[in-house]
Amino acid sequence: MRDKFLVFGQPIIEQPEIDEVVDSLKSAWLGTGPKVHKFEEMFKDYKGIKYAMALNSCTAALHLSMLALGIKPQDEVIVPTMTFASTANTVVHVGAIPVFADCEKDTMNIDPEDIERKITSKTKAIIPVHFAGRPCNLDAITDIAKKHNLKIIEDCAHAIETEYHGKKAGTFGDIGCFSFYVTKNIVTGEGGMAITDNEDYANMIKIMGLHGMSKDAWKRFSDSGYKHYQVLYAGYKYNMMDLQAAIGIHQLPRVDKYWERRQEIWNRYNEAFQKIPVFTPAPIESNTRHAYHLYTLLLDINKINITRDEFLNEMTKKNIGVGVHYIALHLNPYYQKNFGYKQGDFPNAEWISDRTVSIPLSAKLTNEDVEDVIEAAKEIVRKK
Ligand SMILES: Cc1ncc(COP(=O)(O)O)c(C=O)c1O
Repeated sequence: MRDKFLVFGQPIIEQPEIDEVVDSLKSAWLGTGPKVHKFEEMFKDYKGIKYAMALNSCTAALHLSMLALGIKPQDEVIVPTMTFASTANTVVHVGAIPVFADCEKDTMNIDPEDIERKITSKTKAIIPVHFAGRPCNLDAITDIAKKHNLKIIEDCAHAIETEYHGKKAGTFGDIGCFSFYVTKNIVTGEGGMAITDNEDYANMIKIMGLHGMSKDAWKRFSDSGYKHYQVLYAGYKYNMMDLQAAIGIHQLPRVDKYWERRQEIWNRYNEAFQKIPVFTPAPIESNTRHAYHLYTLLLDINKINITRDEFLNEMTKKNIGVGVHYIALHLNPYYQKNFGYKQGDFPNAEWISDRTVSIPLSAKLTNEDVEDVIEAAKEIVRKK
């Protein structure tokens, strides 16, 4: 057994990020400034899109997207139940109603057929989540959105590198939202980005992300002369700081290098887990790029006679950090109490919720770390 705990989702921080953060600290410009602007420009180029707004989280990006698209109280927004809390919480933040859809059992992505079933006269938008970095069925989802005149906000928290039929994730919908949280494929500590080709959405996201103050209000402290601002709305405080962008501007150029390393680990896991009673992730679909954000094993619990939670504990005892992505949102008390969801509503998401375990997939892992993870998982399954 390894003697040091292997932290799940460790970022790689290299010397240039450290130097850049120190430079920001010494420059006295800690808040939103030139490095945020640079990171936005870089991300815009990376995605080939007109507007990129750096924010302090993907959650903020999702919330502001809903405001920019004019989602109002009592509107309905279709969200997968198999996702992180903030995909649905942010719908609630604007007073709208999150309407859950089930996922496909193999890809774990939102099921387009269930989206269609959930559409009513109140539906205004769909939030597809590219789960673990695998693109959703964007052909089907964009067709549905066109047919019913719905907006699309892509939750790309797992999907920085994801591509679908030659096009990058985040550029299919009206707005795409990204996360640079510590476990993500590139990091800024906390951080997020909203991208769009629509100037009005971009302006609204900028304004609402900084107190509702008129555009470029942060420039009032620059050396180009004081500028007055006007408060146009009761906005939020969601701006990214230069201290965060200082990390991002060095991480983004390495995005492919880190992706390649995760692909190697992914392939090694696929090979290692063929002969034990677990289901490995569905094969990568042709003409797509998977972002390899999470490697989720599904335990064949009938064959191994051990619950998923027992497996998690055993892995932790063996010094391997693990995660659960996710217990479906409709099984959580808030969504049951307030929206009437119950066990049994979404069979595929529940099947996954009972079996899923995410094992470490950071580009920082050494080959020894990867073998430790494999050995630990095999031992637990064998013993039971
Ligand atoms: C699918 C999904 N959406 C949204 C978020 C929120 O990202 P952030 O932590 O940057 O707000 C996460 C974070 O883990 C996520 O996994």
